[in-house]
Formats: sequence, C-alpha cells, structure tokens
Amino acid sequence: MNPFKMLRAVPSMLMVIILAFYFTACEGPEGPQGPAGADGATGAIGATGAKGDKGDPGDPGAAGTAGCITCHNMSTDLVARVDQWANSQHNLGGNFERNTVGCNECHTHEGFREFQANGSVAAAISNPTAIGCRTCHNIHTTYETSDFSLAVTGPVDFRASFLAGKTYNKGNSNLCVSCHQPRSSTLPEINGPDYTVTSSRFGPHHGPQGALLSGIGGWEIPGAATYSNSPHTNISDGCITCHMQEAFGRQSGGHTMKMAYEYHGAITMNVVGCQTCHPGTKTFDIDGAVTEIEALGAQLEALLVADGMLNPADGLAVPGTYAANKAGALWNYRMIMLEDRSNGVHNPKYAKALLTNSIENYNK
Ligand code: HEC
Ligand code: HEC
Ligand code: HEC
Ligand code: HEC
Ligand code: HEC
Ligand code: HEC
Repeated sequence: MNPFKMLRAVPSMLMVIILAFYFTACEGPEGPQGPAGADGATGAIGATGAKGDKGDPGDPGAAGTAGCITCHNMSTDLVARVDQWANSQHNLGGNFERNTVGCNECHTHEGFREFQANGSVAAAISNPTAIGCRTCHNIHTTYETSDFSLAVTGPVDFRASFLAGKTYNKGNSNLCVSCHQPRSSTLPEINGPDYTVTSSRFGPHHGPQGALLSGIGGWEIPGAATYSNSPHTNISDGCITCHMQEAFGRQSGGHTMKMAYEYHGAITMNVVGCQTCHPGTKTFDIDGAVTEIEALGAQLEALLVADGMLNPADGLAVPGTYAANKAGALWNYRMIMLEDRSNGVHNPKYAKALLTNSIENYNK
C-alpha cells in the first residue's frame, strides 16, 4: 500500500476507534430488568442405554415357609388338636383369672412357665393367658416337630407339706401332676386331740388326682381294711393312658382329656383306655367297684351331715372344732367323693379302704 494513502486513512481510523470506545466505555445508567423469557421447550428423550451383563445366580435361599408347613399344613394333626383342646375344661373353665401368687402357677400359662423355670412366681400375672399349647409344649421355639416336646418330663415333687418328700414319676403324665396335686393344708392327728376346721374348703382341694392315683394323701386311720393300691397306680403313663386315648370327635379323649360326655341326651363313658386292660367293658363300674365306693361315700356323707360338719347342698365343710377322727373322716370324704371326681376309679382299693376305715372309726 502507498504510504500517503495510509497516512490519509489515519483520521478516519482514529474516529472509528474513538467511537467504538465511546459506545462501549461510556454507556448510560442500566435500565430495569426485562420480564423473564418463556420456558424453553423440553429436550428430546435420550437414547436407551445398552443392557448390562446378567449378575451371577445367588446361593439357594432358606426354605421359606417349609418350617411352618411342618405343622401349619392344615392336616388333621394340628387342627384336630386345636379343636379338641378348645373343648377341654381347661379352656372352657375359664379359671385363669386366678392370677395371684399361690394360684397362678397352675391357673395361668405365664405363671406355670415361670414356676417351672424358677420354682416360684414373683408376682401376680397381669394380662394372664389361659393354659394352651404353649403351656405344655415349646411351640415356635425351633420350628420343628421337636417343639411338641413336653414342658415337664422329669419326676414331680408333691408340694403340699403333708406330702413332703413324695414324688410322682409316671412318664408323660408328670406334666399333668405338676398341676393336678393337692395344695398345702394340715391333717388331724390320728386318734389325736380335737381338731379345728378353719375353712369351708378343708381337704386336699382341687386336683388331688395325682395323690389318689399314687395312693397317698388320704387320712390313713388303721381299721379293718388294709391300705393298698390298685394296679392303676402302676400304669406307666398314668393319667394319659385313660384321659388321652383316641379322640371321639371333640367330645372326649385326645386333647379334650375328657372321660365322659353328654351325647344325644345321655352320658357316654370314654372306655377306650380301659378296654386295653378290661376287655369289652362298656362302663367304668368294673365289677361294681364304683357302685360300692359310691355307697360307702353316701354312708359317710350321712354321718357328716348329721353332725353338721358337711353342707349337703354344696359339699363344703362347716368350720368348727371336731373330734380328730371325725375331722379326718371329713378330709377323706371330701378328697375321694368331691375333689378327686373319679368316684374312686383312680385308685379303687385305696379309696375303698379310706372310706371303710373312716366309717369304722367315726365314733371312736
Ligand atoms: C412345631 C409346630 C409349629 C411350627 C413349625 C410352626 N407353628 Fe405356628 N403355631 C403352632 C401352634 C401349635 C400354634 C397355636 C395354635 C393355637 O393355639 O390355636 C401356632 C400358631 C401360629 C399362629 C397364630 C398366632 C399365634 O402365635 O398363636 C401363627 C400366625 C403362626 N403359628 C405362624 C407360624 C409361622 C409363620 C411359622 C413358620 C415360621 C410357624 N407358625 C411354625 C405350631 C407351629
Ligand atoms: C398348667 C396346669 C395344668 C396342667 C399341666 C394340666 N392341668 Fe388339667 N386342669 C388344670 C386346671 C386349672 C383345671 C380346671 C380348669 C377350669 O375349670 O378352669 C383342669 C381341668 C382338668 C380336667 C377337667 C376337669 C373337669 O372339671 O371336667 C381334666 C380331666 C384334666 N384337667 C386332666 C388333665 C390331664 C390328663 C393333664 C395332663 C395331660 C392335665 N390336666 C394337665 C390345670 C392343669
Ligand atoms: C398345684 C396347682 C394349683 C394351685 C396352686 C391352685 N389350683 Fe386351683 N385348681 C387346680 C386344678 C388342677 C384344678 C382342677 C381340678 C379338677 O377339676 O378336679 C383347679 C380348680 C380350681 C377351681 C375350680 C374348681 C371347681 O370346682 O370348679 C377354682 C375356683 C380354683 N382352682 C381356685 C384356685 C385358687 C383361688 C387358688 C389359689 C389360692 C388355686 N386354685 C391354686 C390346681 C391348682
Ligand atoms: C395340658 C397339657 C397340654 C396342652 C395344653 C396341649 N398338649 Fe399337646 N400333648 C400333651 C401331652 C401330654 C401329649 C403326649 C400324649 C401322649 O403321650 O400320648 C401331647 C401330644 C401332642 C401332639 C403329638 C406330639 C407328638 O410328638 O406326636 C401334638 C401334635 C400336640 N400335642 C399338639 C397340641 C396342640 C396343637 C395344642 C394346643 C391346641 C396342645 N397340644 C396342647 C399335653 C398338652
Ligand atoms: C385308670 C384310668 C384313669 C387314670 C390312670 C386317670 N384317670 Fe382321671 N378319671 C378316670 C375316670 C374313669 C374318671 C371319672 C369320669 C366320670 O365319671 O365322669 C376320671 C375323672 C377325672 C377328673 C374329673 C373330671 C372328669 O373328667 O370327670 C379329673 C380332673 C381327672 N380324672 C384327672 C386325672 C389326672 C390328673 C390323672 C393322673 C394323675 C388321672 N386322672 C388318671 C380315669 C382315669
Ligand atoms: C393298664 C391296665 C389298666 C387300665 C388301662 C385300666 N385298668 Fe382298671 N384295673 C386294672 C387291673 C389290673 C385291675 C385289678 C383287677 C382286679 O382286681 O380284678 C383294675 C381294677 C379296676 C377296678 C376295680 C375293680 C374291682 O374289682 O375292684 C375298676 C373300677 C377299674 N379298674 C376301672 C377302670 C376304668 C374305668 C378304666 C378306664 C378309664 C381302667 N380301669 C383302666 C388295670 C387297668
């Protein structure tokens, strides 16, 4: 380019530079911000990513509900027992409000379990539950059929002071006698001084079955009859051999533990267990032994009622001070005819001897 032309262009180039400077550096005051613009359009969906590789198969899991099905398969095993038990006096009786110390160990589920673990129950049980599957079995512990093993298997000590040192040991029925045994009480001395009956419940009350079956707990005054035991005392599974045989519906046997039931208006006896030893029997009254025991009981009852010691209406004792042999007779009457409730079947020989000798010595 010609140098002169370059020089002539300088002023106009300067002008351009100056104007550019003016418009950029020397703006006026900033105006208010304009309104926000409209949202932009949503962008297009991205392309699907490539699939990852499959993971390795995991280890096989534990068999989900298999453990539960061992019992909860709706087979008759569990359902039948639940139904039988529901119809048992244990369930229907409803005496589990007896939740205080001294009662709760036999009347409530929680008390029984605590007593078996600790030998005592510390306090009254709040919100008690009734005796049920978990009282006698170890349900939902290992979730195997071994959960049906029994809560008590070893020999059971009789706890009443008058039976100190005596033990019950008959297989699976040890469980029963943990509860079906007399509570503490005192007995008159044989041929001793007058004795004061302080309670209308005098006697080995509520559940002396374990004692009667064992041939203990009666007031054994000597007399014409000798004290000996029926072969029932040696039945190796005790209570269960008679009370838990093959169930008849939900009326008797099995987990109803019932020996008799009303059926079509008549009392039917559950003789399934009896028949293994008394073939063909249709009644509990084998050889008329029950009739005989009931007759002895009626004879003794008449003596006690005549002396005002027994209220015939409710079978309760009348508190008072009596000759020792009369008080002892009252004990035997209440034990055999009222509290045991087998009409002597638990131990016919022992029951007969106690009643016979009580009558013989009544006025001596
Ligand atoms: C050893 C047998 C046994 C096994 C195994 C078993 N159960 Fe039970 N289960 C019982 C018995 C017995 C009852 C009480 C039935 C009754 O009282 O009516 C019960 C009751 C129940 C109940 C009713 C609520 C209750 O606790 O009383 C449920 C729910 C239950 N089981 C669930 C299960 C589940 C889930 C499993 C598996 C993880 C299982 N059970 C395994 C025996 C079993
Ligand atoms: C945890 C304590 C306990 C155990 C264990 C127990 N029972 Fe009972 N049993 C009772 C109580 C309490 C009653 C009374 C229930 C009521 O009336 O509310 C009773 C009632 C009964 C009755 C019904 C009596 C009636 O009035 O008709 C029979 C029969 C019976 N038990 C037999 C058994 C046998 C057999 C066993 C063992 C397999 C057994 N019991 C185990 C506490 C127990
Ligand atoms: C050693 C266990 C044991 C203890 C402790 C015990 N009971 Fe019982 N009780 C039983 C048994 C077993 C039966 C059911 C006996 C039967 O049916 O022949 C029963 C039955 C009863 C009955 C129902 C009787 C009936 O004729 O219907 C009453 C009420 C009762 N007990 C109250 C009590 C009270 C109250 C206490 C506490 C002061 C108590 N029991 C403590 C075992 C016990
Ligand atoms: C008062 C105690 C008692 C109660 C409560 C009780 N059982 Fe039992 N159960 C027993 C006894 C005792 C045996 C064993 C009977 C025998 O030796 O023949 C037994 C046996 C069984 C068996 C057979 C077990 C086996 O190893 O073959 C099953 C199943 C069973 N019970 C289920 C139940 C269920 C379910 C309940 C609750 C609805 C229940 N039991 C409540 C005492 C009880
Ligand atoms: C030799 C069979 C036999 C044996 C063993 C046996 N019982 Fe009984 N039990 C009977 C008979 C029979 C009755 C009377 C039933 C009737 O007349 O209604 C009875 C009655 C009872 C009653 C009164 C309620 C009822 O069902 O009538 C109870 C509670 C009882 N027994 C518990 C026991 C206990 C606990 C044992 C174990 C210590 C036991 N029994 C052992 C046969 C037996
Ligand atoms: C394990 C075997 C056995 C079972 C189970 C059994 N008994 Fe016995 N029972 C005997 C024997 C043995 C005698 C003694 C027989 C005799 O003296 O002639 C006997 C005696 C009796 C007597 C007294 C008879 C008499 O002549 O004085 C009566 C009542 C009785 N049993 C009722 C029953 C009843 C009811 C049942 C069922 C609930 C039953 N027994 C279950 C073995 C059994």
